[in-house]
Amino acid sequence: MKAIVYERYGPPDVLELKELAKPTPKDNEILIRTHATTVTAGDCRVRSLHMPVGFGLIARLVLGVSRPRQPILGSELAGKVESVGKDVNKFKIGDEVFAFTGARLGCHAEYKCMPEDGAVALKPANLTFDEAAAISSCGTTALDFFRRGKLQSGEKVVVIGASGGVGTAAVQLAKHFGADVTGVCSAANVELVRSLGVSHVIDYTREDFTQNGETYDVIVDTAGTAPYSRSKASLKEKGRLLLVLGGLPDMLQIPWVSMTSSKKIIAGPAAGRVEDLRFLAELAQAGEFRPVIDRRYPFEQIAEAHRYVDTGRKKGNVIITLEPDD
Ligand SMILES: NC(=O)c1ccc[n+]([C@@H]2O[C@H](COP(=O)([O-])OP(=O)(O)OC[C@H]3O[C@@H](n4cnc5c(N)ncnc54)[C@H](OP(=O)(O)O)[C@@H]3O)[C@@H](O)[C@H]2O)c1
Repeated sequence: MKAIVYERYGPPDVLELKELAKPTPKDNEILIRTHATTVTAGDCRVRSLHMPVGFGLIARLVLGVSRPRQPILGSELAGKVESVGKDVNKFKIGDEVFAFTGARLGCHAEYKCMPEDGAVALKPANLTFDEAAAISSCGTTALDFFRRGKLQSGEKVVVIGASGGVGTAAVQLAKHFGADVTGVCSAANVELVRSLGVSHVIDYTREDFTQNGETYDVIVDTAGTAPYSRSKASLKEKGRLLLVLGGLPDMLQIPWVSMTSSKKIIAGPAAGRVEDLRFLAELAQAGEFRPVIDRRYPFEQIAEAHRYVDTGRKKGNVIITLEPDD
């Protein structure tokens, strides 16, 4: 099978298209033929080892000190079940599925084996493979942060980086949970963010959300521009700052802020659970969640996709297409 492999950390040029052995599913596994996958901000971080402040060494220890331990990037995909192990009874050959491998990666390949009890679920029928490929990473991240932040219906939420992958998912999920949502983005993305149904959009090139007198129950920072020192005055009493992008110094503040105020900082890696995939699929099926797609690239041009995601300016998700949608 074809796979995109990298054997050293660095710029997108480290990615190579290689021919590898096609995997065989174990007794409890399904073999998925990939129709579409994504290049996320996380893929680019892992490829380049460009990590949030304070996490460089930890990342190297986890990912491989001198070279990557997992040579295939990609944390999510959508495709068709091509074969199943002898003990599998939840999926059958031909099922259309989407899957999330999270930090284990390995999705930038023509085939991927997943345990039937792993993070894999049936593709919502109303989504294309491209859209379904982009449900998991940003969707589960936003969902997990809202769960940890105990978002309640009626609360006021502001999402910084509302046009990005996590931001577009966070806006849609916050709306689903009944929040009053404000999106912060640059002028070029105001219409996109408005189309997601926010109550207010703030163009950060013209207005600073920390200086406009508004206060929020929940601030979601996906851009790394709203640390506690800057945003605390914009948090209501008992407000929560969800640092999707936060460095080690932000995390070290967490206990102190909890001890000395009614406010909370929530940070760290998000958990992706199979229940969350099913929940997101149900929302998608009901028309309440639809991954936003910015650009599509063919598999062979994945380095170009990395170059674009590296800019930090993608809108929603960047898709890698292996099989064109029917
Ligand atoms: N904690 C976790 O488990 C976890 C999980 C997933 C992702 N992440 C991290 O979260 C971050 C966001 O991921 P993503 O997929 O959403 O990235 P992305 O799609 O590249 O989005 C970044 C967005 O940030 C916006 N932005 C850039 N500068 C900004 C500024 N000064 N103020 C407000 N918005 C700004 C950009 O919009 P404009 O062009 O409009 O500025 C862009 O849409 C990444 O750093 C990623 O590594 C963390």
